[in-house]
Amino acid sequence: MSAIPRSDSHFDVSAWRADFPALRRTVHGKPLVYFDSAATAQRPLAVLTAMDQFYRQYNANVHRGVHTLSGEATDLFEQARTRLTRHINADSEREVIFTRGSTESINLVAQAYARPKLQPGDQVLISTMEHHSNIVPWQMVCEQTGAELKIIPVLENGELDMQAVPQLLTERTKILALVHVSNAVGTINPVRQICRMARERNITTLLDGAQAMPHLAVDVQAIGCDFYSVSGHKMYGPTGIGLLYGREALLDAMPPWHGGGEMIRTVTFEKTTYNDLPAKFEAGTPNIAGAIGLGAAAAYLQSLGLEAIAEHEQHLLEHATSQLKQVSGLRIVGEARHKASVISFVIDGVHPHDLGTIVDHDGFAIRTGHHCTMPLIKRFGLPATARMSLGLYNSVAEIDAFIPVLKKARAMLV
Ligand code: ALA
Repeated sequence: MSAIPRSDSHFDVSAWRADFPALRRTVHGKPLVYFDSAATAQRPLAVLTAMDQFYRQYNANVHRGVHTLSGEATDLFEQARTRLTRHINADSEREVIFTRGSTESINLVAQAYARPKLQPGDQVLISTMEHHSNIVPWQMVCEQTGAELKIIPVLENGELDMQAVPQLLTERTKILALVHVSNAVGTINPVRQICRMARERNITTLLDGAQAMPHLAVDVQAIGCDFYSVSGHKMYGPTGIGLLYGREALLDAMPPWHGGGEMIRTVTFEKTTYNDLPAKFEAGTPNIAGAIGLGAAAAYLQSLGLEAIAEHEQHLLEHATSQLKQVSGLRIVGEARHKASVISFVIDGVHPHDLGTIVDHDGFAIRTGHHCTMPLIKRFGLPATARMSLGLYNSVAEIDAFIPVLKKARAMLV
């Protein structure tokens, strides 16, 4: 981990970059330029070391053994939960459930919170901007209960149509499930305002925070949401681990979702009683190393400072946006006023997949396709976009190096 060196005008990001071993490799003989952090971020040494140390020195199951190793593993696992509780400013550790990621967190809420409550004719409100993981679980629960899925439209600039929101929050709306930051076009949604509107109408809110966590300081109490989902791998942590934040009163009243070890208090063939929060929702041996790695990722982000990261990324976003606009035939898809450093674009006459393949030969990793947001990409009348997603380790120099490569690719393909 490193302190932030400042140059006159901006951070010198080289010290941050040095924390990420993967950035030292080459691709096709060229230095790797990783512009695909929205798909999954690279991991800093702090995360790799925490996981490695766990397996080398402390590996044991948690909450189960009386032996020393099990106690130490349990301490590390629960320390990670405590750190993450503070990181998102949850009220207590009982409100922070380890899951496999944002997708599992949303499915948990859909099945354990919404399914028992929803009646035919009730409505679940989502938006056109959602990742498939915040669409399909709601479609499934609507099919199971007879509830109806309603959609907040997205404007041409990639912002939510806020004028449509009040009419869509009706007395039939039981749940509002909304993405905090769009993984596809970078829009930062006005979640405090929307959660306040929902609260005034007694509507339960879930925010998909997978793409917000690497870019913003997230304070679930200040936002005022009921549930918040987190994916570890997008916030520089391991894959296969994430969080569900839920207000304690709601989690407490929910039935368990998965049955198994750890989530029980007593089991007989006649009757099982369930454990307290958060264990009630953590059936089976958890991803212990993943949780410890995720705690280390939160500590790493705090050591750099979320504000410093956001400042750096906003600088990159502005620079990349203005440079991309110099490429002829290039159009940015989604230019919301408040954006994280995620830029989708298309170039006239060029298929994004061809573009992605060609720039890869120069060492540039971008994502192309629908970004798991097919309805949003369709909304813009497109089959796919190219997406440049910038993380804390990216630099102005990398953006400047990308532009001629894009121009060269365009000249080959048009
Ligand atoms: N949801 C991931 C992305 O945005 C995979 O690319």
